[in-house]
Amino acid sequence: MTQRRGGGRNARGQERNTARPSGRGLTVRVKTAGKRSVSSTRWLERQLNDPYVAEAKKQGYRSRAAFKLLQLDDKFHFLKAGARVVDLGAAPGGWCQVAVDRVGERGKVIGIDLLPMDPIPGADLIEMDFMSEEAPDELKRRLDGLANVVLSDMAASSTGHAQTDHLKIMALAETAHDFAKDVLAKGGAFVCKVLQGGATGELLKLLKRDFDEVKHVKPPASRSDSAEIYVVALGFRGP
Ligand SMILES: C[S@@+](CC[C@H](N)C(=O)[O-])C[C@H]1O[C@@H](n2cnc3c(N)ncnc32)[C@H](O)[C@@H]1O
Repeated sequence: MTQRRGGGRNARGQERNTARPSGRGLTVRVKTAGKRSVSSTRWLERQLNDPYVAEAKKQGYRSRAAFKLLQLDDKFHFLKAGARVVDLGAAPGGWCQVAVDRVGERGKVIGIDLLPMDPIPGADLIEMDFMSEEAPDELKRRLDGLANVVLSDMAASSTGHAQTDHLKIMALAETAHDFAKDVLAKGGAFVCKVLQGGATGELLKLLKRDFDEVKHVKPPASRSDSAEIYVVALGFRGP
C-alpha cells in the first residue's frame, strides 16, 4: 500500500486534509434566556466559539471529532491508501469521512454505531450495538478478510459519576482490543479512545505485548478539559 497524502479536495468537494482550524473569529456570548439552563448555555457558547466546530462545517465534516483522527493520522500515518478500516462508534460519521478520504477507492471503510447514520459514499455503515453477541461476526462478514486498521472512538453516555464512566469506557476499549486482535492483519494498527488514569495500565500492558509500538496521545483537537486520550498501537505482531 502506498501513502496518499496532501491537499486537494475531498469526496464532498471541500478542501481536505487540513487538520487545524484556519483562525478564530470573534468570541460569541450567549445569554441565559427563557428555558435555557446555565449548562446548555455554556455548551452552546463553547460550540459557537470552538474553531474546530466552524472548521468541520467549512470542510464538510459531520463532527469536530474528524480533526482528532486527521491529527492522529498526520502524526502516525496508519490510514494508508488501499487500507481496510473498521470504525467502532462511528456516528455521526466524521472519522468515517476522514478514513474514506484517506484510504481512497481501493480501500474499505466499515462503521458501526448504536445510532443511525446518514449514508457516507464509500463507507459501509451498520446500526448495531458493538457489545452485542452478533456484532463481531457481522463486522467480519462485511470485512470479508482481514483489516489493516481498527479505530474506536466509542464513548458511553456519561452517568455523571466519574468512576462508573471510566469503567464503562474501559469495557468498550477492552472489547475493541479483543476484536482488533481477531481481525487485524500483521502490521495493522489499533487506535482507541480511553480515559486518562485508572484502569488504562492493564490495557496498555496487553497492547505492548501485541503491538510493536504503543503511544498515548492527546491530539490538539481533543478538548483540554476532557479526560479522553487516545491509545495508538502500531505494528500488530499477528495472532
Ligand atoms: C464520540 S462519538 C463518535 C464520534 C465519531 N468518531 C465521529 O467522528 O463522528 C461516540 C459514539 O460511540 C457510540 N457508541 C457507544 N457505545 C457503543 C456501542 N456499544 N456500540 C456502538 N456504538 C457505541 C455512541 O453512540 C457515539 O455515537
